[in-house]
Amino acid sequence: MSIFKIDTLILGSGVAGLTIAIKTALALPNKKVFVVTKAEKSESNTKYAQGGIASVWDKLDSFEDHINDTMVAGDYLNDIEVVKMVIEEAPKCMKQLINWGVDFDQAKNGDLDLGKEGGHSANRVLHHKDITGFEIEKNLLKQVNLLPNITLLPYHFAIDLITDHHVKGKETIDSISCYGAYVLNQKTKKIDTYIATSIVLATGGVGQVYAATTNPNVATGDGIAMAYRAKAKIEDMEFVQFHPTSLYQPGESPAFLISEAVRGFGAFLRNKKEERFMLKIDDRAELAPRDIVARAIDSELIKSGNQYVYLDCTHLKMDAFINHFPNIFEKCKSLGIDIATQYIPVVPAAHYLMGGIIVDKIGYTSLKNLFACGECARTGLHGANRLASNSLLEALVFGNKIANEISENRKNLILDKNIQIPEWDEEGTTVPKEKVLISHNRKTIQNIMTDLVAIVRSNERLEKALDHLNYLYQDTEKAYDKSKLSPQICELRNLNAIAYLIVKQSMKRKENKGAFYSLNNLKN
Ligand code: SIN
Repeated sequence: MSIFKIDTLILGSGVAGLTIAIKTALALPNKKVFVVTKAEKSESNTKYAQGGIASVWDKLDSFEDHINDTMVAGDYLNDIEVVKMVIEEAPKCMKQLINWGVDFDQAKNGDLDLGKEGGHSANRVLHHKDITGFEIEKNLLKQVNLLPNITLLPYHFAIDLITDHHVKGKETIDSISCYGAYVLNQKTKKIDTYIATSIVLATGGVGQVYAATTNPNVATGDGIAMAYRAKAKIEDMEFVQFHPTSLYQPGESPAFLISEAVRGFGAFLRNKKEERFMLKIDDRAELAPRDIVARAIDSELIKSGNQYVYLDCTHLKMDAFINHFPNIFEKCKSLGIDIATQYIPVVPAAHYLMGGIIVDKIGYTSLKNLFACGECARTGLHGANRLASNSLLEALVFGNKIANEISENRKNLILDKNIQIPEWDEEGTTVPKEKVLISHNRKTIQNIMTDLVAIVRSNERLEKALDHLNYLYQDTEKAYDKSKLSPQICELRNLNAIAYLIVKQSMKRKENKGAFYSLNNLKN
């Protein structure tokens, strides 16, 4: 086991983590920035983002409209100051991405081609075909490679934050400081100690807590679970966004996303009887905010007993469609769906968490030295329901804020030499004989959450879910205490904590807002 003393430790290598790494490394060329990530370098929710990034770009659009759309989608639970800040800083961040090599699609006249998505009153989504996240991640990694003071460590799994609770003689203080993290090197199988003056959680989302999700396997809420165990403030976990249109392919994980930009391009949703049911639900029809569309689909499925609804693209101009959405077109073709003549079967899937680790306008969490950024952070931008394509934007704006704070105000901090940080103690642990117990419990959590804590909730369902989760918690903790740690057991433990937080915080909410909808809160 080794001890590394560094300046900045970033956990996670999506758009949030890499932006902070690049900006900090550029500003402080003599300081060491480490990025720890549990899978291969590029594996993150960022890589799978299809639609794009929302930013006011067109002369006819305005910050006021983007702010208003964000507040309406968020059911006015957003922090208006944060909304203004993020939206007004968006164009600057887009220019930064373009300078870093991101190739946003252009229209025939040479201007950027701006897409539209649900809840937006204007075309303002900058995109690269239907693989915007992939394009951004690729270019950020290129920038990282140019900077010798960034060390990127793939296949390193952060197990827990190091806080006053670990430091001898400091267990009882009220305001908690973070000093680094214990990290499992998956190659050596050793748990190393990383000590840093600034620590950033940029660990992404929690989609894997549900059986059907658009999020990759790595989205297990590790950062939020670590922060929760370290006693950081976590809020709004009841607000989980279900994307209305994932491709219906039972058992496929992650579910393939049919971008909302396809509805922005003019596609219709149809039920079993081929009716455009959204026309009766909302004036904005298919382009109502996601919570409304996902609930409407859920209700259609319950009424009809069908497993999916349809997305109809048959009336759209196919050449233009294929140019904008080549990946979606090919995916459907590979499954025998000719979207020029056939409907696409779609179903809602867990997609994004609005809540998470509470941060202030700079990105500080409630623990000293600890920042959070990206999907694991709760900044106040999204309120009760995120407006489409505002998430990569949030990660960029807050990524810049955190990097500025580290390079302007924290650059002279040095590690306290007297602090005694214990190494990870694995005495008495053994390699578990069977992994099936871990995978069984993971599937059980996913099924509990999908059956009882999804788009529509009730007190009874939440109570039942909590009972099941309490049992799984005991079982998982027992296994964790005696096991030599693996990513699988750590992810299970984290998923258990995330499921618990979603259920407990759902129980507290007594009013239906945005993505949170309980049968017990319906007014008579
Ligand atoms: C999509 O392309 O529909 C997803 C974009 C987002 O979640 O913002």
